[in-house]
This record gives sequence, C-alpha cells and structure tokens, in this order.
Amino acid sequence: AYPKRVKVVEVGPRDGLQNEKNVVPTPVKINLINMLSETGLQVIEATSFVSPKWVPQMADHTEVMQGINKLPGISYPVLTPNLKGFQAAVAAGAKEVSIFGAASEMFTKKNINCSIEESLERFDEVMKAAKAANIPVRGATHRKGRMSPSCHAGSAQVSKKMYSMGCYEISLGDTIGVGTPGSMREMLTAVMKEVPVGALAVHCHDTYGQALANILLALQMGVSVVDASVAGLGGCPYAQGASGNVATEDLVYMLNGLGIHTGVDLQKLMDTGTFICNALNRRTNSKVSQASCRL
Ligand code: HMG
Ligand code: MG
Repeated sequence: AYPKRVKVVEVGPRDGLQNEKNVVPTPVKINLINMLSETGLQVIEATSFVSPKWVPQMADHTEVMQGINKLPGISYPVLTPNLKGFQAAVAAGAKEVSIFGAASEMFTKKNINCSIEESLERFDEVMKAAKAANIPVRGATHRKGRMSPSCHAGSAQVSKKMYSMGCYEISLGDTIGVGTPGSMREMLTAVMKEVPVGALAVHCHDTYGQALANILLALQMGVSVVDASVAGLGGCPYAQGASGNVATEDLVYMLNGLGIHTGVDLQKLMDTGTFICNALNRRTNSKVSQASCRL
C-alpha cells in the first residue's frame, strides 16, 4: 500500500545550485525560491551556511535568506554543519536547519573535514543551540560508494544517532545514485530497525537512472517524504560523478499517476524549471519537462 500523501522536499536551490561551477547571481536564486513557493511545495531547502571557501556558490546565504518571500505554511530549512553556521543561519532569519553527516569515515572527512565522532560532537552543539532557540532540526545522512551491508549498517547507526539527538526527520541520501531498489530495500530494512518509518525521507540522485524506481520502493515500504530537485539540478561538490537529484517534476508526475496527494502544481513546477534552466543556460534533466516541450 502506498501513502495517501507525500511531502516533497525541494532541494534544488541548495543541492542543485551548490554544484554549479559558475556563481549564480543572488537575484536568480531568490527568484527561483519565490517561484517554487508558488507551486504548492511545503518545504524548500533554501541555501547552506557552510564555509564559502568550501562551497563558494553558497556564500550569499544571508542575502538569499533575507531576500526571499517567506510564505506562511512553507518552511525554508538551511544546511548548518556547525555552530558557526547555525548562528549565522538564525541571524539571517532561518526557522529550521539541517545537519548532515556521512555514513563513512572517508566521505565525512572529504565533505566536512572531520571524523564521524567529531561530526556528531559538532551536531550535538547545533542540537543544543537549536533546542534553546526552538528551531526544528532535520538530519541528513549521505553515502558515497557501493551499497554494501556494512554501508547500510553505517547509515542505520548515523540515522539512529541523529534521531536520538532530536532530529525530527532523517533524510537518507544516496549521494552518487548507485542504489537500486534492491539495495534501497536492504538499507531501509536496516534503518527502520532504528528509526520509525514516519521519520524517514529518501534523497535519491539519478546518476544511474535508478532514482524513481528507488523512490517507488521506498513508498511501498512506508516512506512518505521525498527530496527532489527542480529540473533535476544538482550533485555534490565532494562526490565526484554525482549527478542531479531526481527531478521534482518527474517525481510529482509519478505521484500524480499513483493518485498520491502532494499539493504541488506540476505546470507551475515545470515553469520554474524552465526559468532556472534558462538562467543557467542548460537543458533540463526532467524527462517530463523534456517530453512536454516537444508537444
Ligand atoms: P574546516 O575548514 O574544517 O573548519 O571546515 P574550521 O572550523 O577549521 O574553519 C575553517 C574556516 O572556515 C574558518 O575561517 C572558519 O571561520 C570558517 P578562517 O578563520 O580560515 O577565515 N567556517 C565557516 N564559515 C562560514 N560558515 C560556516 C563555517 N564554519 C567554519 N559554517 C566545514 C569545516 C564544515 C565548515 C567545511 O568542511 C564546510 O563548509 N563543508 C561544507 C560541505 C558541503 O557543503 N557539502 C555539500 C552539502 S552535503 C550534500 O550535498 C549531500 C546531501 O545532499 C545528501 C546526499 O546527496 O546524499 C545532503
Ligand atoms: Mg544530495
């Protein structure tokens, strides 16, 4: 049985744009988020308060947070890897944040320059500050590499820790998109022993063309929160070969076909995809948008 409704978490402005080589002008980012806000999406990951030396594309995080129209009923979480990022995010008006940690030592080092143990200490600082400020925290685990049982165990352990620290939701990332419905089932089976399925989200990249199949499997297992990126923008600057997230347009098209409610207007979403692709001078990665353009 499928869930009756699915919460779509739009990550294009953050996960999508962070991988763009050329710095995207701040007004384009603001316009993108404002257009997304009109589509019916409830959650739009707006930017990340990470070091501009590491991810120059996100250096305008404060301007973006202060420039967007924050509509009631929509949350605009931002990534905060440490207390410094958290404080800057709150000062810029963020009302929700995400912490992100990898399930493997090597990738943690590469992505946030510390060990898993150190990353959990940093998260703890953020969690305490967030609790004091009444700010909900989402956790994201990501993984790079083949989907092995030890990797599933790593995801389960990091998810469990983030959940027990107080994250209200854990997004399970397949950063380089190597997962298949088979490994998705194994990973979810491992993680669901530690975290209730109602608190889980999936974050699939489409590098190997498996994203929608993986999401369908996750829905069948009871997951009802899915991350996606408009026009399939995205990747991860510290995970070579990572392509975009599943395109939000394609996800919504599939969910519409299953009769699953999202509240998202597909046409407005496609218009937003067209806007950002024109601004970036690139072709959309959404199959639905490609198909519709030819009609
Ligand atoms: P570090 O160099 O180890 O940190 O970076 P540090 O504490 O030694 O500080 C170094 C400098 O950075 C200092 O400045 C700090 O002030 C500054 P300096 O004294 O040299 O002038 N700094 C900061 N500046 C702004 N904001 C901050 C901040 N923190 C320190 N928050 C750090 C550690 C975590 C900061 C760094 O590694 C970093 O920013 N990493 C970002 C990695 C990133 O954004 N990755 C992409 C997101 S994850 C992802 O995309 C995967 C996901 O989508 C899931 C999936 O796909 O599976 C979530
Ligand atoms: Mg990602």
